[in-house]
Amino acid sequence: MPKRTTVLDFQAKCDKGEKLSIVTAYDYAMAMAVDAAGVDAILVGDSLNMTMLGRENTLSATLDEMLHHTEAVAKGAKNAMVIGDMPFLTYQLGPEQALENAGAFLTEAGAQAVKLEWCPRASEITKFLVENGVPVMGHLGFTPQQIHRFGGYHQQGKDKASAALLLKEAKALEAAGAFGIVLELIPSDIAKKITASVKIPTIGIGAGPDCDGQVQVLHDLLGLMPDFHPKHAKAYLKLHEAIRDAVKQYVAEVGAGKFPPKS
Ligand code: KIV
Repeated sequence: MPKRTTVLDFQAKCDKGEKLSIVTAYDYAMAMAVDAAGVDAILVGDSLNMTMLGRENTLSATLDEMLHHTEAVAKGAKNAMVIGDMPFLTYQLGPEQALENAGAFLTEAGAQAVKLEWCPRASEITKFLVENGVPVMGHLGFTPQQIHRFGGYHQQGKDKASAALLLKEAKALEAAGAFGIVLELIPSDIAKKITASVKIPTIGIGAGPDCDGQVQVLHDLLGLMPDFHPKHAKAYLKLHEAIRDAVKQYVAEVGAGKFPPKS
């Protein structure tokens, strides 16, 4: 029987120099497909606020929505670790608030871990969650929940001081017990330096090839968003067009009386 990836497998793969692959998914069918492809983990990202719900940014995703989608993914994923993304203002107030909400990802939704974006108390919160049995993945660099502070989708860690801060925060997350750290939209050389400075896996998105693994948003990877093509993403399919053409054919066949056939 296949075994589900654990935090120990994550570290072991990283220690052996093997790259980790993570992709987002938000529903049962997609979770089954990406799980069958052999990803190490599936992130139920709060990016679902844009990809699934058509909203402008990640800020308004609610805990209930995240739990709802995480439950569907957890049912579809048999081998990959399922990581629930903690939405804005469900952990920033402190360890107790974070534990109550992170716990729901494990107890109600069936996830095995949570991810939380950097905030001033991120290390303290991470330590408390980990000590209480909730594995935590950190997230540094461009943290989308702080989009208004950053003033848009801008690369972080470009100057010496902010790069040094990222390194310090990565070490603090490692010391707090995080099992991995997402590095988003930072220069490749800074990601490389952080990766060499911590033992836990770094998972890049827009952070170059030297991280211990990569994470991608599934809709970018499949070409599902016709008007959104981030520089750091690679579309392996043109699924928007494929769906449009398939449904067009269906519409034409219904219109022409070719579908359904006589029964
Ligand atoms: O919400 C998300 O999909 C994420 C990834 C981009 C890392 O946080």
